Amino acid sequence: MTIPFPEPVLRVGVIGAGAMGEHHAETLAFELGGCQVVAVADLDRDRAGRVAEKIGCDSTDDATAVIADPAVDALVIASADATHEPYVLACLERGKPVLCEKPLAPDADAAGRIMAAEVEVGRRLIQVGFMRRYDADYRRMKAAVDGRALGQPLLMHCVHRNQSAGADFHSAWMITSSVSHEIEALRWLTGSEIVSATAVLPRSVLEHVFDPQLVLLRTAEGVVADVEIFARAQYGYEVRAELVLERGTVSIGMPAGAVVRTAETMSTAVPPGFIERFAPAYRRQLHDWIQSVRSERPAGASAWDGFATAIVADACIASQRGGGTVPVSLPERPALYH
Ligand SMILES: NC(=O)c1ccc[n+]([C@@H]2O[C@H](COP(=O)([O-])OP(=O)(O)OC[C@H]3O[C@@H](n4cnc5c(N)ncnc54)[C@H](O)[C@@H]3O)[C@@H](O)[C@H]2O)c1
Repeated sequence: MTIPFPEPVLRVGVIGAGAMGEHHAETLAFELGGCQVVAVADLDRDRAGRVAEKIGCDSTDDATAVIADPAVDALVIASADATHEPYVLACLERGKPVLCEKPLAPDADAAGRIMAAEVEVGRRLIQVGFMRRYDADYRRMKAAVDGRALGQPLLMHCVHRNQSAGADFHSAWMITSSVSHEIEALRWLTGSEIVSATAVLPRSVLEHVFDPQLVLLRTAEGVVADVEIFARAQYGYEVRAELVLERGTVSIGMPAGAVVRTAETMSTAVPPGFIERFAPAYRRQLHDWIQSVRSERPAGASAWDGFATAIVADACIASQRGGGTVPVSLPERPALYH
């Protein structure tokens, strides 16, 4: 039985009506209680209109107006990465809670400006959409680390493959948009910051982009993670990880579900994209965000997490550009995030 939220509901504006914005808007409108999607904004007015029509809310191409609207209590930002900074800053100016899709910003300078603005406000209003923290398998992995029964983590092997990517999905973007998930997950799982990053570049499927790439990350506690990012893997979407601890390992993301045996073969489905793979995590993240906004108890990845991740992503890109192993150093964590 679902326990109903007390009135009034949280009135949410969704910025960006692409794949993620549409999915978030529909999840909020049709699957979750305690909230109401009151407006959808996208630079592409038709796209905003199509999503808003399904939900039965207003649509516009003016995201700033939605953020400023007193009838909107909180925002989900799922527009293109480069738009996150102005929109999150506008939310902070109005004192409105915001769930901003990852990455918080495309580089550490921009992410740092956002974090500094939140520190200035003096209240945690930003959650960053690193939804792996809400994935059931990742949570089991986290529980194994925290439970200590398997000892300390030593190594992590990660695979992150997309079926396809546009021509504009370039080498740096593969880090900021995709590997940022593994960077953040490693920090979260181990509770340790990353101190160096190395990009290793094998033979590529394209001339102008390094695809696939291998990224090596080392944490302050000495855990080393290897991350394969392959954005044009063709066969499907796959996110897998194996954490190696002193007395055992935890593997997640292996094929699950129906297995078909026929004609001397055995097969199972591979999801086509991130929405199919992570829909329950996106839903749980939104549910948790609504509760956290209503209770004024911040949850999930913070602006600090978004900033720290962006610093590591910048180091990966510097390494990609011939920097070898690039050291990472973080400034002191502001008291707001302790
Ligand atoms: N958490 C995850 O697993 C995950 C997965 C995919 C994408 N993302 C992130 O979600 C965001 C959206 O990704 P997507 O896959 O939906 O991309 P998309 O290209 O499908 O949609 C992006 C939308 O943003 C709109 N837009 C661009 N500039 C705008 C502006 N100035 N104002 C308002 N709208 C604008 C575009 O018109 C488009 O509709 C990105 O930040 C991306 O990195 C997160």
